[in-house]
Amino acid sequence: MKTKLFRIRENLEDLARFNSTSGKGLTRFSLTPEDRGARDYLAGQLRQLNVEVFEDAAASLIGRREGTDPSLPPIMIGSHFDSVRNGGIFDGQAGVIAALEILRCLEENNIRTAHPIEMIAMIEEEGGRFKSGVLASRAMALGLTLEELERHKDEDGISIAEAMSSFGFDPSRIAEARRKPGEVRVFLELHIEQGPVLEKEGVELGIVSSIVGTDLMRVNIQGRPDHAGTTPMDMRRDALKTAAAVISEIPLLAIEQGNGTVATVGTLTVRPGAPNIVPSEVEFTVDTRSLNVSSITAVKNRIIENLEKTSRVDGTTFSLEQLLQVDPVEMDEEIRRILQDHANALGFSWRSISSGAGHDAMIMAPVFPTAMVFVPSKGGRSHCPEEWTDYEDIQKGVELLYHTVIAMDRR
Ligand code: GLV
Ligand code: MN
Ligand code: MN
Repeated sequence: MKTKLFRIRENLEDLARFNSTSGKGLTRFSLTPEDRGARDYLAGQLRQLNVEVFEDAAASLIGRREGTDPSLPPIMIGSHFDSVRNGGIFDGQAGVIAALEILRCLEENNIRTAHPIEMIAMIEEEGGRFKSGVLASRAMALGLTLEELERHKDEDGISIAEAMSSFGFDPSRIAEARRKPGEVRVFLELHIEQGPVLEKEGVELGIVSSIVGTDLMRVNIQGRPDHAGTTPMDMRRDALKTAAAVISEIPLLAIEQGNGTVATVGTLTVRPGAPNIVPSEVEFTVDTRSLNVSSITAVKNRIIENLEKTSRVDGTTFSLEQLLQVDPVEMDEEIRRILQDHANALGFSWRSISSGAGHDAMIMAPVFPTAMVFVPSKGGRSHCPEEWTDYEDIQKGVELLYHTVIAMDRR
């Protein structure tokens, strides 16, 4: 029996209502009232099925359908349900709803699997609120400490630990979210491509080969506040002057590396932030990605060199904070082959594709056998209100994953 298009559409449209922005697109940060609404909605959907519904110590929502062999680890399917600021309704959520639909179809089709099947909906993949993304998958695959949860704070100074506590979680138990190698049989994630390749080539599905590595750092530059009218140019310590010079070079450093290396300054804060005060402090983030670790390292080293040189001339100082560092990863070869075989059998066109976006799958992959399926993004747009994928296209990906779950179970 086939997966159901109307349910996929309805779930995604329903989920999109849990949105904090009055502007365009979807904003759903982690551990907020919108998270609560979406979480309760998903839990309600799961409770209509014969599954155990619970939350792990990293605030992931899990629906577990028991298998017939209690000795086997679960096959896990899912993605994240937080969004970027003013993003779209498909990033992450398409993968969560795909997993939900797969559980429903196993139930309807009376399929007893030997492995338990777990649907997982994870928080803070985007790092939208706490600027330290892939949080739930890091807690699961690598393990996190209470100190890390206390260190990262949102714009209002609320730490992850505090936000978890006020949401009813006990952050001191974060280590319990960790699963050891072998404790997850496979992790499967459906996601929108977020790029133009599949649409441009008219291919229905992407089977992900690898995911880029990411280096995310926060740069803080310290200068001195002075009167903007009376302080001569040669007596200033203008933090923004240093920042501007360094930032303007960053795109060139990425281009120089080639091979799809990208670098982005996506945030910039100027303090005290008044027209008539020389900026005393500037903070910005640099997100560098590549399939080659050496390219990431090269860009980063050049940025640091530029900071050293420029701050010396300008009389400013700087400090760096590493927010995320993930190496490029390959997806599991065996699962990719199974996906390819089933895509062929189902008559879907597909291609191998590497991911320039980060995903929970990149954190899971070094620890558990992991694979991803991409569905096309209209115009390649994502992380914006215009992000769109046709529901029919999502259904094809769900169909492929459904058959792959059953095949993985029987191996
Ligand atoms: C998440 O979408 C990321 O690639 O940063
Ligand atoms: Mn995203
Ligand atoms: Mn995503």
